[in-house]
Amino acid sequence: MAAAGQGSARFCAAAPAPTMRTMLTPPPLSLYVHLPWCVRKCPYCDFNSHEARGALPFDAYVDALLADLDHDLPLAWGRTIHSVFFGGGTPSLFPADAIDRFLQQASARLRFAPGAEVTLETNPGTAEHGRFEDYRRAGVNRISFGIQSFDDGCLQRLGRIHDSAQADAAVKLAQDAGFDNLNLDLMYALPGQTLAMAGIDIERALALQPAHLSHYQLTLEPNTVFAARPPQGIPDDDLAWDMQEHCQAQLAQAGFVQYEVSAYARPGRQCAHNLNYWRFGDYLGIGAGAHGKLTLGSEQAILRRWKLKHPAAWLATAGSPAAIGGDERIAPQHLPFEFMLNALRLVEGFGESMFAARTGLAASNIAAQMAEAEARGWLQHVDGDWRPTAQGQRFNNDLVSLFLHDEAAASAGNPSG
Ligand SMILES: C[S@@+](CC[C@H](N)C(=O)[O-])C[C@H]1O[C@@H](n2cnc3c(N)ncnc32)[C@H](O)[C@@H]1O
Ligand code: SF4
Repeated sequence: MAAAGQGSARFCAAAPAPTMRTMLTPPPLSLYVHLPWCVRKCPYCDFNSHEARGALPFDAYVDALLADLDHDLPLAWGRTIHSVFFGGGTPSLFPADAIDRFLQQASARLRFAPGAEVTLETNPGTAEHGRFEDYRRAGVNRISFGIQSFDDGCLQRLGRIHDSAQADAAVKLAQDAGFDNLNLDLMYALPGQTLAMAGIDIERALALQPAHLSHYQLTLEPNTVFAARPPQGIPDDDLAWDMQEHCQAQLAQAGFVQYEVSAYARPGRQCAHNLNYWRFGDYLGIGAGAHGKLTLGSEQAILRRWKLKHPAAWLATAGSPAAIGGDERIAPQHLPFEFMLNALRLVEGFGESMFAARTGLAASNIAAQMAEAEARGWLQHVDGDWRPTAQGQRFNNDLVSLFLHDEAAASAGNPSG
């Protein structure tokens, strides 16, 4: 895949500051809850996750989550929550009664849409008999399993705490408890993985009949053990691309529809929570290091808010302004890029009216970049919507870079900035 930097250097200097404004309309609202502990830190992972040492303070953490939520509530008065996502870390380390208490108290503070999707991320190494029934009773209706691979050698090289038999067993426990809305996370381009092995992982996943599958290419994230000491045998870009195409074909044959760069679902089983991110919806983010995005109708602005990252620091301050790591109103000139970073991940693309409603900018502000993307064969106009082509999906970084606002070039070309 071409580097994003090349795209930005070549094309984005022309992106001017937007001038034509429209009304910002508050989009659907979700709730993200970050639970930051894991049994062990995986060497490839750069999430805000911390190895659990000793007993975890579940009760204190739930109290702090509620205080954090109370503090953010004025940003969401009168609005309805359409989905909840417990992410991590390893949320399944939390007992069901902690999740239950949080959901009960949260729904006393905010209106939850009937049937709202409530997802809990789960590491198969933490699945215990009986626990899934209790999560279901607490109101969780979707489980997302971090499987990564069904190959025990790959799992070991990834430093996972479970083997493939435990992964199979955990998924079956959840199904026996009545969960039918299951996601399995798989990664590919793993150390020592061949094309055939990547295909077998998909077959093993499909045999478990999930509703959804996330298929991520392993990336060496800065500040991880893998970045410092890359493991032997990571497939090169060409092989990684072949793996993706091969797995895409297997999934399509099994009736899974790809709706985002890494996400596949049976019809009607897309992840509502992630779709809201990709459609540039709003979300409250509570818990250590959680990020939120809120449309402020009265100010006609979009606020990004994030919380202190370290669990101890966040726990000590939750519910007070000191727990806020930062508040930032997105400058209008950065909104096209921020919108595209999300919307162009979607196979469905976006409509111009959605761009206008979610950014408060008239679509005319991005006409030049859209024309450039179309000329390059990366975007197409289908039934009034803009959709990335196959090339646009493959070169997503270059496509999105077209919408970067280059401050230096903008002020050089326009003395008033
Ligand atoms: C927060 S974790 C999910 C649940 C749980 N923590 C676990 O790992 O079992 C989210 C997912 O991101 C993916 N992921 C994490 N680090 C990655 C990386 N460096 N490259 C690609 N995918 C990654 C994994 O598939 C992982 O399941
Ligand atoms: S279990 Fe999940 S969140 Fe925790 S370190 Fe591993 S990949 Fe990261």
